[in-house]
Amino acid sequence: MSKPKRAAQRWVCQACGAVSSGWFGKCPSCEAWNSIEQELPPPNPGERPAGSSVVVASTDAQTQVDSQPRRPCGLAEVDRVLGGGLVPGSVVLLGGPPGIGKSTLLLQASVGLARRTGIVLYASGEESIAQVGSRCARLAASHKNLLLMAEQRIEEVLAQATDRIRGAAGQPPLGAVIVDSVQTVYSTAQDGLPGNITQIRAVTSQLVAFAKHHGVPVVVVGHVTKDGQLAGPRLLEHLVDAVLSFEGDEERATRLLRATKNRFGSTQELGVFEMRGDGLREIANPSEAFLTHREAPAIGSCVTATLEGSRPLLLEVQALLAASFGNPRRTCVGVDPIRLAMLMAVLDRHAGLFVLDQDVFVNVVGGMRLSEPASDLAVLLAIASSHRRQPLAPGTIAFGEIGLTGELRPVPRSETRVQEAARLGLKRVILPAAPKQAARALKDSLDSLHLGASVELRFARSVAEAIELGFA
Ligand code: TYD
Ligand code: MG
Repeated sequence: MSKPKRAAQRWVCQACGAVSSGWFGKCPSCEAWNSIEQELPPPNPGERPAGSSVVVASTDAQTQVDSQPRRPCGLAEVDRVLGGGLVPGSVVLLGGPPGIGKSTLLLQASVGLARRTGIVLYASGEESIAQVGSRCARLAASHKNLLLMAEQRIEEVLAQATDRIRGAAGQPPLGAVIVDSVQTVYSTAQDGLPGNITQIRAVTSQLVAFAKHHGVPVVVVGHVTKDGQLAGPRLLEHLVDAVLSFEGDEERATRLLRATKNRFGSTQELGVFEMRGDGLREIANPSEAFLTHREAPAIGSCVTATLEGSRPLLLEVQALLAASFGNPRRTCVGVDPIRLAMLMAVLDRHAGLFVLDQDVFVNVVGGMRLSEPASDLAVLLAIASSHRRQPLAPGTIAFGEIGLTGELRPVPRSETRVQEAARLGLKRVILPAAPKQAARALKDSLDSLHLGASVELRFARSVAEAIELGFA
């Protein structure tokens, strides 16, 4: 009897995923040592006869989408980041460093999904049923449709899921599958330990095939290291439909959910949570949570309105100038250091504030990042306030992009920003001067919300004007 023909073998770098034709001590692609392992090609998923693919006119394709409504989980922050809920047949990767709260978030979302859409199968490769169960009890997140499973073999997870597609033994049909985490499950058809690139790729392609074939959404957890350096999830990003990242730091309870890739929605939305003893709590009004409530205005502080997707967010920027010994240092948290250097130069040249010889510290309160140029003016005013040792007028908020000639440039969606400031009781808004019509429209939009009388709009054309208005 002849030996069965072995399909072509491949050698794959476990660090970068590069495929080579033979073994190397050092990967030719990423130069990692001892990272190349032999790998069998994935099993053939079953040949389909040529011509069996479905071809649809683009005008008719929409009806296919409409016939499969999104499945919201009921946590408004998660649903918004997803673009309105899970899309049937999609695979979502939830990434984040270990211990940030991914499992907690998914359990809370799963129970909401189970209530709304039917069976949710939560497969954990990390924790026993007892561990997940006790967490469910602590979070008050249990429901008869939320099924728990402690399993590391992906084939077994998918077999259990397939059995429940149409609903078995009086149960509703399958609404979603959760796999926690992709690093701890493995395919029995592949060699290698769970978590290596071959396994991660095999597991993910099985999940993608399952989701697409049965029209069931799948959410899979992926761990990333603090600097996002693990090869697995990077490679995973190409295979899945959406990548959500769950961020935050250990010292703070605030957690942020963002989409870094989303085939079905915007990647601009931000979800904000607080980690508490009884799980994650949604923060529907992040502006309130991030603002410091003070009796009197503080020196070196300025509030700005930034946009996170569709939502405005008020954040406080703080600055401190200190006498420098030797080379002046610029230390900033949450602000781009290059942008800060530019603002310091503009202050020096166009506002006559000599700050270049001092140490500067800038911090955005709440561990947030200001990435929009619209926050330039607030950073500048906070520095000016520290320099003058004088607080800004009480209830001031400022936004505007600053140019190198010291001019203040208009920013998108001023109304949204001004309305959020008014809603939170801030009284003075310093913003870039706008043409008469635009300024009128802005006032009208405030009037329509009955906020026109409580907010004073102070338009400035230049940095010097903004500083004058800020301290008047
Ligand atoms: P977990 O969801 O296990 O993180 P991940 O799955 O991302 O590794 O959450 C881990 C941390 O969250 C843990 O250190 C304790 C904290 N936590 C709370 O503060 N409150 C809670 O109700 C829960 C469940 C966890
Ligand atoms: Mg976990």
